[in-house]
Amino acid sequence: MAKKVCVGVIGAGGIAGTHIKYLQQIEGVEVVAVCDIREDALKRTAESFNIAKTFANHRDLVALKELHAVTVCTPNYFHAEPTIDALKAGKHVMVEKPMSMTVKESEAMVATARQTGRKLVIGFQSRYSPAAQMIQRSVEAGELGKVLYSRCQALRRRGIPSWGVFGQKSLQGGGPLIDIGVHIIEVAHYLMGRPQPISASASCYTYLGDKPSKVKSAWGAWDHETYTVEDLAVGLVRFDNGATLFIEASFAAHLESDVFNFTLMGDKGGASFDPPRIYKDEAGTMFNMVPHFVGSEDQFALKMQDFIAVVRGEKKSTAPGEDGLTVQKILEGVYKSAETGKEVRIK
Ligand SMILES: NC(=O)c1ccc[n+]([C@@H]2O[C@H](COP(=O)([O-])OP(=O)(O)OC[C@H]3O[C@@H](n4cnc5c(N)ncnc54)[C@H](O)[C@@H]3O)[C@@H](O)[C@H]2O)c1
Repeated sequence: MAKKVCVGVIGAGGIAGTHIKYLQQIEGVEVVAVCDIREDALKRTAESFNIAKTFANHRDLVALKELHAVTVCTPNYFHAEPTIDALKAGKHVMVEKPMSMTVKESEAMVATARQTGRKLVIGFQSRYSPAAQMIQRSVEAGELGKVLYSRCQALRRRGIPSWGVFGQKSLQGGGPLIDIGVHIIEVAHYLMGRPQPISASASCYTYLGDKPSKVKSAWGAWDHETYTVEDLAVGLVRFDNGATLFIEASFAAHLESDVFNFTLMGDKGGASFDPPRIYKDEAGTMFNMVPHFVGSEDQFALKMQDFIAVVRGEKKSTAPGEDGLTVQKILEGVYKSAETGKEVRIK
């Protein structure tokens, strides 16, 4: 029989429902408590998922003796504090992406996990996707050779969130780069072999989000008066092994259609994520290889299952705190370079 794992969820908004849904599908897992500062969100989530204990303050939740683990599903400004409090209370933690708002916060989170001996996992799901795992198998088999460059794109033509605090820099740390660029960066960086970033050169632009919406878009009007993040971020990151990564991320951009993709270019072969492809030279011919079947698993289900396996001590995390910290260094480097208008060094 599977070892029982009791989980508490901090933040009861959009993504919390997805966490709870998948956690409740895992044998031996019980979501026993949920916390939110908004009474309506707390009540709705507790009732929909039949969760017995509710709290308005995360400290009361992490103090529960029966909890083994906590997932943090609050806005970015409130990732570091509940993560550190839960680790100190002896719980294993999964914190949603991005790990935090700053490198300083992420370093404190990793240091606390090391001091307490608890596991810290980042809610990066793209690396679990069947397409990413197919590329990972090719990388491991040496099919791509040395990965030299990754072109990453998380581009929305008009996709400024009309809910939450996604347009407020002081609460989110930034806009599309930290919110959706992070998904494509985390998986590309993982497949590149997790090199350390050493410098960034970037620009950020705001031209639409801070004004009233003038066109119809699927997500409706956003709050332009509180909008302080970029509409578009573009940046080049260099790594200690000589590889480079280019990122383009937008909430709003004048382009034909949305793109959520990366392409890896190695010295022996290449790969792209969506649609999944491998590019190789074989017997004097250039091939675009189309996989017949990469799998149909749900990446989010795999992410939650992996966390529980880590909590049970069955395996090492595929997305440990250290990976979150490295990705945070990339994000912060891009923002710092855009602010200063210069290439910045990343420590
Ligand atoms: N992995 C993914 O695909 C994915 C998708 C969406 C969101 N996210 C991440 O999840 C986080 C939350 O996003 P969301 O879409 O659920 O936002 P949301 O606004 O729907 O929900 C956040 C909830 O946190 C609550 N909250 C705020 N401060 C709190 C505090 N101090 N204590 C307790 N609760 C507090 C809010 O009241 C709200 O109900 C963000 O960091 C976001 O980047 C990840």
